[in-house]
Amino acid sequence: MSDFEKLKNSFKQKILEVKDSKEIANISSEVFGKKGFINLEFSKIGSLSQDEKKKIASQINKAKQELSEVFSQVSKKLFDSELNESINKQKIDVTLPENEFEIGKIHPVSQVIDEISSIFSEIGFNVEEGPDVESEYNNFTALNTPENHPAKDMHDTFYLDENMKTLLRTHTSPVQVRTMMKGKPPFKIIAPGRTYRSDSDQTHTPMFHQLEGLHIDKNINMGHLKGCLNYFIKEFFEVEKIKMRFRPSHFPFTEPSAEVDIGYKIKNNKIVIGEGDKWLEILGCGMVHPNVLRNCKVDPQKFQGFAFGIGIDRLAMLKYGINDLRSFFECDYRWLNHYGFDPLDVPTNYRGLSK
Ligand code: PHE
Repeated sequence: MSDFEKLKNSFKQKILEVKDSKEIANISSEVFGKKGFINLEFSKIGSLSQDEKKKIASQINKAKQELSEVFSQVSKKLFDSELNESINKQKIDVTLPENEFEIGKIHPVSQVIDEISSIFSEIGFNVEEGPDVESEYNNFTALNTPENHPAKDMHDTFYLDENMKTLLRTHTSPVQVRTMMKGKPPFKIIAPGRTYRSDSDQTHTPMFHQLEGLHIDKNINMGHLKGCLNYFIKEFFEVEKIKMRFRPSHFPFTEPSAEVDIGYKIKNNKIVIGEGDKWLEILGCGMVHPNVLRNCKVDPQKFQGFAFGIGIDRLAMLKYGINDLRSFFECDYRWLNHYGFDPLDVPTNYRGLSK
């Protein structure tokens, strides 16, 4: 037997005797590695004649194949047995209690969205959703916004392309468009979600939350809008009486348009809603403009209705006495522990909305 054969057999024996995956890795580099047995043998044949080279190279290749086959059999067997062993050892008792169990908290914005959804669902509103990334058409044009409207300015809106055709929605109103385009009237929906504007100070953050409301049917008028908002604000703030005023305003997508203020006073450093002579603006609203209805394939001769847009973060700040909007989005765990809600406390009108 040649020296080469002897060497090959000794490596084969070594592979067969391997006991664990660590040894497998070692032997693999000893035999097949850059400086291993096979490559070393190849490097020796450089100076031989052409014929000899061919002969020995084929010998080495044959040996390499033989050793690889043995190697893959052995490593597969080892892998299987190690896996079985670890499965047998790990007996997981799923009935044991968790030993490091921490209950998380619900963020006030999520809590308020749940509360609002529950209040509006009591009077027949369904929840709709739309994407944060919107088309210019749904965000502005379909909503009757003229080409030169200041809201379309690059300074206020985050555009996502050079042609200003895609953007981060600046309000939840495009969900009105999406809802009307995909269905047939009547519509009675709310749409909570994230909205974006280039703005940042104590009461403005570049990302904030709004809640859109839309009610389209035959013969819906401003009286319904007033009644609906009156009910909502009383339920939300859990007060018997509310002071509310409608101030004439302008939005391209509603006519007439109004902004709604609620009356409050400060008592012992706390805001009391429904009393006093101070006013706080909380939402924009109006009767949906006939152009918007037409753009959304709804016949304004047959259907009409109202829409409103509420700042959710502001409602959360008012109800839960949080005075800096920016703190909502700083992800400070201590803040969340203080202002957050128990996940098992699901808000409903019947059970009470807040703790
Ligand atoms: N989209 C308006 C805003 O962001 C609010 C609004 C919604 C006003 C619906 C009227 C009707 O300010």
